[in-house]
Amino acid sequence: MYRSRHVRKSSNASFLRCLVAAGVYIGGITISPFVCAGDPGAGADVFKQECAECHSPKEGKNKKGPSLFGIVGRNSGSIADYHYSDALQQDHWVWTIDKLHSYLSQPAKKTNPGTKMKYDGLNDPKQLDDLIAYLSTLH
Ligand code: HEC
Repeated sequence: MYRSRHVRKSSNASFLRCLVAAGVYIGGITISPFVCAGDPGAGADVFKQECAECHSPKEGKNKKGPSLFGIVGRNSGSIADYHYSDALQQDHWVWTIDKLHSYLSQPAKKTNPGTKMKYDGLNDPKQLDDLIAYLSTLH
């Protein structure tokens, strides 16, 4: 099921971290099978490759896109000092695991027409699960 690149990085420790992320940070919001399907360590690498050009995982640090600190469970368009597109600001949803999963698996402008996030989506389901497991740890 895992490709060799991921086998080395999958460990009991990261599985535990993943459970902690699910239980503590996601709490009552959404418990979904995606949470623990992913490896946050491998997801950190996916983040660096796919997202870090435009997003920081650090609190309060906006780049081309808003900081993704605390993104899981956050309201969309809610970073006060980031200038969102009208498209993202007018649509209101909560960034649950499921919402991130559908948003990041296809071009952003499909889920949110008019968005200024120029991203075509991540089509490798394993990388997507790892990435979202990593995003769940940013609290
Ligand atoms: C080329 C730059 C770019 C890349 C690459 C990119 N983003 Fe974005 N992202 C943006 C911009 C710009 C916005 C603000 C969109 C708007 O206001 O319409 C955004 C918004 C978001 C939001 C909404 C945040 C909020 O506060 O509502 C999420 C979630 C997000 N990006 C996740 C990701 C993830 C995860 C990746 C990597 C898989 C990624 N983005 C890759 C530029 C990018």
